[in-house]
Amino acid sequence: MDRKELYRVCSTSLCFIVLTIPFLQAIHSKESEFNCRSLGLSGECEEVEACTCVCFKLTKWSTTVEAAYFGELGYELVLYSPYIYYLHILGKLKRTLGPPGSSAFNYFSPNHTELPFGRRFCPGLYSNKNAHAAIADFRFDEWVPPQYKQHFQGKLPALSELPLLILHNKYTKEWDQPPANFIDVPTLLQLIDMLKGRYTIVYMRPYTSQHLPGYVGDSNLDVEFNDHEEIKRQHPEVHLAHELLGQLTEVNDFNELQLALHAQSDAFISVLGGNAVIASYFAGTNIVYAVKGQETTHNDEFGVLYPRLSPEGLGKVVHARNYGQLLALAEQHFLSESAQTDVVA
Ligand SMILES: *[C@@H]1O[C@H](CO)[C@@H](O)[C@H](O)[C@H]1NC(C)=O
Repeated sequence: MDRKELYRVCSTSLCFIVLTIPFLQAIHSKESEFNCRSLGLSGECEEVEACTCVCFKLTKWSTTVEAAYFGELGYELVLYSPYIYYLHILGKLKRTLGPPGSSAFNYFSPNHTELPFGRRFCPGLYSNKNAHAAIADFRFDEWVPPQYKQHFQGKLPALSELPLLILHNKYTKEWDQPPANFIDVPTLLQLIDMLKGRYTIVYMRPYTSQHLPGYVGDSNLDVEFNDHEEIKRQHPEVHLAHELLGQLTEVNDFNELQLALHAQSDAFISVLGGNAVIASYFAGTNIVYAVKGQETTHNDEFGVLYPRLSPEGLGKVVHARNYGQLLALAEQHFLSESAQTDVVA
């Protein structure tokens, strides 16, 4: 029975808990000694405690690298992945470790293993210590974003003849405060109403208690939200990503699904967080709704750093600071005449 099958059979929370008890015990007993050595990595390690390791082993003829990352997804994709992909291009990357669901992001690793540890807050990384650093201080010399678009293109058949638009959302506590960076239900419904004639829409808001294979939350706790119910009721033609996962046999887990869907799309709406980074990795236009967080005040991360994640740096990332702006930008980028030529080209 493969992993997806197992999760499908095991759909109740109780069953899931029983399934994961050995994992939880392992996490509990190992958490206190969670470091590069306890993960079995060897060599000279650059380490952020309980979070990241990049270990270099010098032999007579070559240098090999083993790396592990268990931090938040956004930082993984902005800092860690482009660094280890760069090491991979140099032919040095030998082995990587990550949390459940990390295989798709590490498709290029010669040997990637998922370990049953969650994602935790990670204060920063070696080659770019701080993702929010001034862009002038950001080191692009050891930074090559993985080719997710190229790699995942064609993995899934097209959902329909209309172009695909991916609509991300989240509704979690942020910095131990109530949710701030999220699209509320009235705005979601307005966006869908406006865009559904021109696009096939996939809506993605995974949350921890759905127990989706490959989806692990981080330190930000989910809060109850009635988005899925309202979308289903008012716009049943919208695809919900968690439902697609059960239907599409070509993909094994949530992250493989989302990368494969993004690879088919040029139109993205996202909210601050890992999803906004993923949506920036693909050419096209990504409108990021963000009202709170360092990204909204520091430098021009959305305008300058994020587009560099896309193939040839050709992606466009625009920042919406309120719901009115989000609706206006969606109309301007996804519905206007020039948007149409964008999509066709
Ligand atoms: C992956 O790495 C582990 C640990 O070094 C090793 O036991 C395993 O054989 C490797 N797998 C492959 C396919 O090389």
